[in-house]
Amino acid sequence: MIELRRLCKTYVTKHGAFEALNDINLTVRDGDIHGIIGVSGAGKSTLVRCVNLLERPTSGNVIIDGEDVTGFKGRQLLDLRAKIGMIFQDFSLFAQRTALANVTFPLEIRRDSKAVAEKRAIELLELVGLSDKAKSYPSQLSGGQQQRVAIARALANRPRYLLCDEATSALDSLTTDSILELLQTINHELGVTILVITHEMKVIQTICNKVAVLDGARIVERGLTSTVFANPQQEITRRLLGQAAAEAALREATEATVAASASINTAIPTDGMPADSMPAEALPPVAILTDGMPAEAMPADVMPADGMPPESTLADGMTPESTLADGMPPEAVNNDV
Ligand SMILES: Nc1ncnc2c1ncn2[C@@H]1O[C@H](COP(=O)(O)OP(=O)(O)OP(=O)(O)O)[C@@H](O)[C@H]1O
Ligand SMILES: [Mg+2]
Repeated sequence: MIELRRLCKTYVTKHGAFEALNDINLTVRDGDIHGIIGVSGAGKSTLVRCVNLLERPTSGNVIIDGEDVTGFKGRQLLDLRAKIGMIFQDFSLFAQRTALANVTFPLEIRRDSKAVAEKRAIELLELVGLSDKAKSYPSQLSGGQQQRVAIARALANRPRYLLCDEATSALDSLTTDSILELLQTINHELGVTILVITHEMKVIQTICNKVAVLDGARIVERGLTSTVFANPQQEITRRLLGQAAAEAALREATEATVAASASINTAIPTDGMPADSMPAEALPPVAILTDGMPAEAMPADVMPADGMPPESTLADGMTPESTLADGMPPEAVNNDV
């Protein structure tokens, strides 16, 4: 069980103090897929990063499985993070490692033998449906496939918990559906408790049994998803639901347009060829981009060579290995941890 008690986080910058979380109380029970929804800037990422102490709360407590972990450092912190996998919107894969080597990374760091690490990685790639892509590099994978690799890597240490920070926000609707289905499988079959941070109501609706609405650094509404959706108490919740309905209508209209245009392409071949035998560049853009953002859109400068972190990500007095022993991608690690 994950418990946040009276959690506050204030960022102090040269422009002054900014309160990102204010008196957050939240319980995520074992077996839940718990959603946190809110508009941009509401504090969602800050909240989820406090759970595995990538951000240190300014006050309040993080309690995992009944133990107050708020002050954990060093070995204790690494062991804690092995229990809590995390995935990100931008996938955060190591560009110079194959899919297999991305998944073995947390196990190598924990000094598992190569044979053991590879066996586990192969099992995980099979679980996420990517057995045939083990030797591919991230740039050779679609967005949805990259997120599957990231999920496999997050599961390498057999975590009890999985934190998902906007895990589907860079993906199109169909790919989002397939990733959400995978998260449900992980929850049901591996018993992993999942905390999902999103601004998309569709994500909450599809997989979360419970939801909390975050607005202006506070949780303003929470409960069973079915109850909150049936009878939203707060204006912000109603607005998010209204926006979700509008987005669903737009999606349906777009899908109908795409289907109509695909049938025209099949019915009226170009140069005597049916549309499905035409080269990809001749097809409508929607057909080519089904798997989300292109690899080139990923910032190259956050991808460390050989899977090692740039010096700037190392906490004072820590070796690269001690910083990475939890398998977190370097850019996710806050310097004060
Ligand atoms: N390191 C930081 N220093 C100062 N302010 C920060 C820092 N990180 C976040 N903030 C501020 O805290 C607030 C909450 O940020 P956070 O990233 O948690 O929002 P979010 O709900 O995840 O937004 P989004 O949906 O856009 O990802 C924002 O106003 C942001 O500018
Ligand atoms: Mg965020």
